[in-house]
Amino acid sequence: MKHLLTVEDIPLSDFESIFNMAAYLKANRRTADIKPLKDKTIAMIFAKSSTRTRVSFEVGIHELGGYPMYLEEKQMQVGRGETPADTAKVLSRYLDGIVIRTFLHSDVVELARNASVPVINALTNDFHPCQALTDIFTILEFSKKLQGVKMVFLGDGCSNMANSLMLTCKACGLELVISSPRGFEPRQDVMDRAKGPGTITWEPDPLKATRGADYIYTDVWVSMGFEEESAERLEILAPYQVNSALVKLASPDVKIMHCLPAHREEEITSDVLDSPVSIVFEQAENRLHVQKAILCYLFGAM
Ligand code: CP
Ligand code: NVA
Repeated sequence: MKHLLTVEDIPLSDFESIFNMAAYLKANRRTADIKPLKDKTIAMIFAKSSTRTRVSFEVGIHELGGYPMYLEEKQMQVGRGETPADTAKVLSRYLDGIVIRTFLHSDVVELARNASVPVINALTNDFHPCQALTDIFTILEFSKKLQGVKMVFLGDGCSNMANSLMLTCKACGLELVISSPRGFEPRQDVMDRAKGPGTITWEPDPLKATRGADYIYTDVWVSMGFEEESAERLEILAPYQVNSALVKLASPDVKIMHCLPAHREEEITSDVLDSPVSIVFEQAENRLHVQKAILCYLFGAM
């Protein structure tokens, strides 16, 4: 049973076929007759808010011939204490796959361990693999290569996005620099887990970190589930704002990335987010194509 809980679940040798499939599905969105989900029902269990992930999965499952069943976690018994293991055993008898966005990564691991259908992590406090794979696909579209491409990630260096970018960039040969203050430095356990030809370094000085960057990436300073730390985070992360002064230090061909939603004038200024070098909406669109390719991969259509 194939799952996608982190990008480590996909052998490096399969990345290329997933990206090729995503490119094909993007170029042939209205004409591709690829329906691996025909007569299949995929549950989408969400315990946190979502715009991109929910809509792109719902549309993607539909376009691949399947039925997406949206379920709010708090309206399910798992929201009242039923275990993820029991939930997985029951749902596996009804469904063909489960997409889940929740808080604890360990709950998704337990769900997958007990499911006999594929489970896809649609974001936990620790990882967001669908976003990170999309980000790499987007870089490949713009740079036509991955090896040696320099990305600087500014902000919360121990967030789900930083963690997922570490695993994915390392696997794909990028030079990733995480720029964050002490207390928000990249997690050592994730750095140790990251395998592949790329490099990961931590540089607390955002100006040094950004020099020569091909891609500047940022994410909200207060991730879902961390709202009670808002005041402290906004203060300590303020020097890591992506603004026009910082962008000037990067490569002349720099592109700006953000997984979105953006909190304008916090982690990124509007002039940068809306500038011609920002590729955030292309990146957002690519969620659809890459997730469709992931579904094709997990459901044996590749
Ligand atoms: N980037 C992302 O996952 O966005 P949503 O929270 O809107 O799904
Ligand atoms: N780090 C953010 C990502 C949102 C897509 C969060 O978890 O809220």
